Amino acid sequence: MSAHIAFRGVSKRFEVKVRGSRQHTEFTAVDGIDLDVGRGEFVVLVGPSGCGKSTLLDLLGGLTAPSEGEILLDGRPITGPGLDRGTVFQQYALLPWRTAQGNVEFGLEATGVPRRRRAERAREFLDLVGLTGFEDRHPHQLSGGMRQRVAIARSLAYDPQVLLMDEPFAALDAQTRESLQDELLRIWQRTGKTVVFITHSIDEAVHLGQRVVVLTSRPGRVKEVVPIDLGDRTRQDDLRSSTEFARYRHRIWDLLHDEVSRAQLQEKEVVGA
Ligand SMILES: Nc1ncnc2c1ncn2[C@@H]1O[C@H](COP(=O)(O)OP(=O)(O)OP(=O)(O)O)[C@@H](O)[C@H]1O
Ligand SMILES: [Mg+2]
Repeated sequence: MSAHIAFRGVSKRFEVKVRGSRQHTEFTAVDGIDLDVGRGEFVVLVGPSGCGKSTLLDLLGGLTAPSEGEILLDGRPITGPGLDRGTVFQQYALLPWRTAQGNVEFGLEATGVPRRRRAERAREFLDLVGLTGFEDRHPHQLSGGMRQRVAIARSLAYDPQVLLMDEPFAALDAQTRESLQDELLRIWQRTGKTVVFITHSIDEAVHLGQRVVVLTSRPGRVKEVVPIDLGDRTRQDDLRSSTEFARYRHRIWDLLHDEVSRAQLQEKEVVGA
């Protein structure tokens, strides 16, 4: 079967100004990424800060174009944003003047779904993320976790095939975070979406991913892809304390540790220059 998402030799370079001069130089954020993501797969990207994770997600979202290579979605190159992909960011990108319901409906307005159907669908998806009864609250009347649930409901409501998530739970407390992780796993199982998820948390990566892609420090390349064979997480209570879990955690920590040290060295060089 062909991949749902395929990165083929993807590099992204940015033009940056040279400090104290009018000249520009090229800066390579990600370099030669080759990666296939299967339909319905849950893939997690981890890597040191600045290694190009968000850049890869922007490329997938069609917000920017690769400098080299291409990204195929269902075998066709991505040329721009589309309703076949939904994105959830770290900070709740909700409209403050709209209610939870209104925010989820907003995502449907571009799709041509009739008004009454929009309202129904919004309620259905707020229910899916456990927010029944909170439809009429505005973002400032919701907790951080609830706002993030609204953002998830909004990106699911128009039924994208792919869910792109950039550290969606990073700003939440540990307990809210774990319960949203489990909820996301249940939603993923129910809807069969392809998920590309970025995190700095090794635990989160192991808990969620079917495969964890470890990226190198800048420029980001694929260092290793670690398959996580932990079965159905939603059926196991104490998974995080199992020895298998610890083994995966350690493996990824090892891979990342080298890269984070390298990234810190690079930073020192830049500051020293
Ligand atoms: N528009 C841009 N112009 C110039 N440089 C950019 C631009 N966007 C990103 N970069 C640079 O590309 C590199 C990768 O950035 P990116 O945001 O993808 O990293 P990241 O892996 O998501 O980091 P973090 O874990 O801190 O979120 C960084 O060094 C960043 O400064
Ligand atoms: Mg980022």
